[in-house]
Amino acid sequence: MILLEIRDLHATVNEVEILSGVNLKINSGEVVALLGPNGHGKSTLLQVIMGHPKYTVTKGKIIYKGKDLLKMTVDERARAGLFLAMQNPSEVPGVMISDFLRTAINTKRERPIKPIELFRVIDKASKEMQMPYDLASRNLNEGFSGGEKKRHEILQMKLLQPELAMLDEIDSGLDVDGIRIVSQQINEEKKDKTFLVISHYARLYDLINPSRAVVMINGRVVIEGDMELVKRIDKEGYEWIQIEHNIDIEREDKRPIVLEVCAINERSKK
Ligand SMILES: Nc1ncnc2c1ncn2[C@@H]1O[C@H](COP(=O)(O)OP(=O)(O)OP(=O)(O)O)[C@@H](O)[C@H]1O
Ligand SMILES: [Mg+2]
Repeated sequence: MILLEIRDLHATVNEVEILSGVNLKINSGEVVALLGPNGHGKSTLLQVIMGHPKYTVTKGKIIYKGKDLLKMTVDERARAGLFLAMQNPSEVPGVMISDFLRTAINTKRERPIKPIELFRVIDKASKEMQMPYDLASRNLNEGFSGGEKKRHEILQMKLLQPELAMLDEIDSGLDVDGIRIVSQQINEEKKDKTFLVISHYARLYDLINPSRAVVMINGRVVIEGDMELVKRIDKEGYEWIQIEHNIDIEREDKRPIVLEVCAINERSKK
């Protein structure tokens, strides 16, 4: 069953077009890897799906479970089962994590969660994610280390139980144990969820074993494949796509393409 269908999606930020005709279908239960050079619109796509007001959709459609997603508010999208773990989670001083999680959990429940139950689930999830013991009483992401912010995004996913979890560079900033814990959680949640996962590194994808990989260049999905595609990009970067698929990597003019560290490492071994 198709869970999400994106048709010819165009979107701008500050009147600059970032998405230039994205087409993508995601079936229920898939784990889709989204790759692409820096600055080519991956995070923008996820933010537009989630409904970030900074972006203006100028053309195209997003259909989620048969409904016109673009007509829904962010709140309605979250209640319909969408979840976004952001590339750079914001610090929100003054908002206690227990209050934030209670509000988020309650929007999806008929009866509010009891305080004792709330602390039980937060305590269990923070142990599983190996987060600080005083997590519930701290402010949202305030003073969190880079890795703690990423672990906390997965903790939220576990508590909110979305249908479509979109994870934007969830592996950036995680230490070796963090990557293992996060990928274990993704693998457990894969049984009843669909994932759209952005990462620059084959390492994460090796651990979560995506069913499909798609590559975004110049604000469009230009190639689809499987783990072989992920491995090739990890080894060779993106230049071969330009040559073999005759695609100009246009955004190079606006921002230089930064080859990822593992691609450089792989090349330097040759
Ligand atoms: N407010 C803005 N004004 C102008 N351009 C912007 C603005 N916000 C984002 N952009 C540009 O949009 C482009 C796409 O950004 P996006 O964050 O979607 O890239 P990405 O593919 O996720 O890259 P990365 O791999 O580095 O995370 C970038 O060139 C970025 O500079
Ligand atoms: Mg990004």
